[in-house]
Amino acid sequence: MAIEPHRKDSPFGHQCCDPQEQLRKEILLDQFFKEKPGLSNLQQAKDIDSHLGFKIPKIERKLLKKYRAYYKKSDSSNSKGFHSESETWVGLHPQVLLTPYAEIHRFLTFLKSYDPKIVVDLGAAYRRIGIVMSNILPTAQFKGFEIVTERLEEAKRVYASLLLENCQIEHQNILDDSFEIPDADIYFIYDFSKLEDINLILRKMYKKIQRRNFFVVAKGDTVRTLIEAKFPRFWSNQRPIHSKEWSIYSTSAKLNFSLSRLEN
Ligand SMILES: C[S@@+](CC[C@H](N)C(=O)[O-])C[C@H]1O[C@@H](n2cnc3c(N)ncnc32)[C@H](O)[C@@H]1O
Repeated sequence: MAIEPHRKDSPFGHQCCDPQEQLRKEILLDQFFKEKPGLSNLQQAKDIDSHLGFKIPKIERKLLKKYRAYYKKSDSSNSKGFHSESETWVGLHPQVLLTPYAEIHRFLTFLKSYDPKIVVDLGAAYRRIGIVMSNILPTAQFKGFEIVTERLEEAKRVYASLLLENCQIEHQNILDDSFEIPDADIYFIYDFSKLEDINLILRKMYKKIQRRNFFVVAKGDTVRTLIEAKFPRFWSNQRPIHSKEWSIYSTSAKLNFSLSRLEN
């Protein structure tokens, strides 16, 4: 079922005169972010974005006008430069750039039983995780870091319209030497940049294991391959859980759930 943007009679059954209030009620409904049979996760995510008032395609088009696309060579013949030395994926289709809401809903639903208090997204873009958290982990704190100002500002605008609490969003180059990764119970990384950049962040996170335990949810081939090959202590005590799209690694707690149960 496609979601029509800003209908007064909501497709989720809530009817309310104030559209903002209605949206706030809708995102608290369990079925709002759940996978929909017959609808791809990407299409569902696109529908939810426009229902929430995100203008992501417009912002991504503007970024592409201003900066060189990630797939173009870095030669001097092109007047546009890359956004930064970090890979910001300008030119990538927005629905590939971002983790679908239904995927986030699945891994947060599982991790909810561990009562996480702080969730950190390293390279957070439009901060979909914070929005899904308001549904599944309403009292947990979300911290997202993003280097592209335009993405950050759009996330702030939508967060303000949804009156989301417990969400901290910061403009930050996470590769800066001075950046300290905050303590968290769950770290989420979706291949935010090149292999060497992801490696640097994983090395910083690795040092935290001596002090505290946490989960890493990793999406993308680069981060998953790096963790498996070079960072065994993220997972060696516990067998990781692998879905097609993401993996969960635990530095200590037993991951005692069946993915097939979660998929049903
Ligand atoms: C693949 S997207 C994932 C976005 C989000 N975590 C999600 O899964 O929906 C990676 C994001 O990391 C951002 N990024 C890349 N390098 C970064 C850096 N050095 N510091 C902060 N953010 C960065 C990119 O701009 C992009 O928005």
